[in-house]
Amino acid sequence: MDLAKIRSQFPILSELTYLDHSALGPLSLSVRQAAAEALALQGEGSVGAQRLAAAVDVLKEKIARLIGASPQEIALTRNTAEGLSAVAAGLPWREGDRVVTDNIEFPANVYPWLNLKARYGVETYFVPARDGRVVVDDLIAACDAHTRLVAVSFVQFSNGFRVDLDRLGAYCRGRGIYLCVDGIQGLGAVPLDVSATPVDFLASGGHKWLLGPLGLGFLYLRRDVQRVVWPAEVGHHSVEQDPDHYTHYNLTFRPTAEKFEASAPNFAGVFGLSASLDLFHTVGLDAVAARVVALTDRLCEGLAARGYRLRSPRGPSEKSGAVTFVSARHASADLHARLREARIVTSLREGAVRVSPHFYNTEAEIDRFLATLPRDR
Ligand SMILES: Cc1ncc(COP(=O)(O)O)c(C=O)c1O
Repeated sequence: MDLAKIRSQFPILSELTYLDHSALGPLSLSVRQAAAEALALQGEGSVGAQRLAAAVDVLKEKIARLIGASPQEIALTRNTAEGLSAVAAGLPWREGDRVVTDNIEFPANVYPWLNLKARYGVETYFVPARDGRVVVDDLIAACDAHTRLVAVSFVQFSNGFRVDLDRLGAYCRGRGIYLCVDGIQGLGAVPLDVSATPVDFLASGGHKWLLGPLGLGFLYLRRDVQRVVWPAEVGHHSVEQDPDHYTHYNLTFRPTAEKFEASAPNFAGVFGLSASLDLFHTVGLDAVAARVVALTDRLCEGLAARGYRLRSPRGPSEKSGAVTFVSARHASADLHARLREARIVTSLREGAVRVSPHFYNTEAEIDRFLATLPRDR
């Protein structure tokens, strides 16, 4: 991995110590160039349209490779919330059905389920997290005969906790309960292979750890569950449309996840995310994940040595790219501001400072971050 070459793609890295990928990924020069290329193609009007459209299949192959799916199981969306909402709006709910989730989810993975109550009488049950952990046994214990779906984040936004999707998925699959995952805080930092992990739906935006433009995300729908979800948003892309006869209306859905795409996507986003995924596939997802673990382990050791209290569970199967911490002596907002003054970018979440380095951050940057914090004992 040629770190210097990769870093030169991200101009912000020479200006700031950027440790905020849980909030928003910066765009590489290649991604910006690819997005500009899409706009230039549309600058040619319909002349460039074929080349724009061809990029969609290429992107879907790269997304499929990222998560161990097939391209036919990928629908392009704008963001995570849209993907989760498509699942919520499309499943055939019955009054009294139950969705099980937990009480530390990001709202994108809460409101689509709460929204089902008034319309269908679906109840959403919130399993309390324990010490920042979403405990699989607790989720399982909350599933009853009415439970149709379990909705969790792969990685939690507030503390980087990673749930055991293998065990949860095995349980859900065995009971005929759908497992729907908000993937945005994990994908691009922590590997997830849906050919091995029993997930039914996986929604993500491309704009955090995947380092793609805002406004382009995707929804994975496992092949066998696609027929159960009614496409709630449809248009000429969703159906077997004869392009020579647009007025020969024929509501026959395409046989793949394309039926969940109503019309043309945001092509600047398509080109941009495609360029970004090239970086991940070139470096290798395992190499990316190994560096994220090494950097965050160093971060945690340094924070503990300085007396800070970690809010992030850091067991081997629990860790991810985000680390949150609090101080007994300093307000989190003050620490956050002090870091920002030192040109170190982090976030404040749920009363804690959240630090989220990516694979191209360096050990020296982690040490600079640590050296900027006052000792907490
Ligand atoms: C777990 C999680 N889900 C979803 C989102 C945002 O979703 P969207 O892609 O709809 O903007 C965030 C953003 O902070 C998040 O942390």
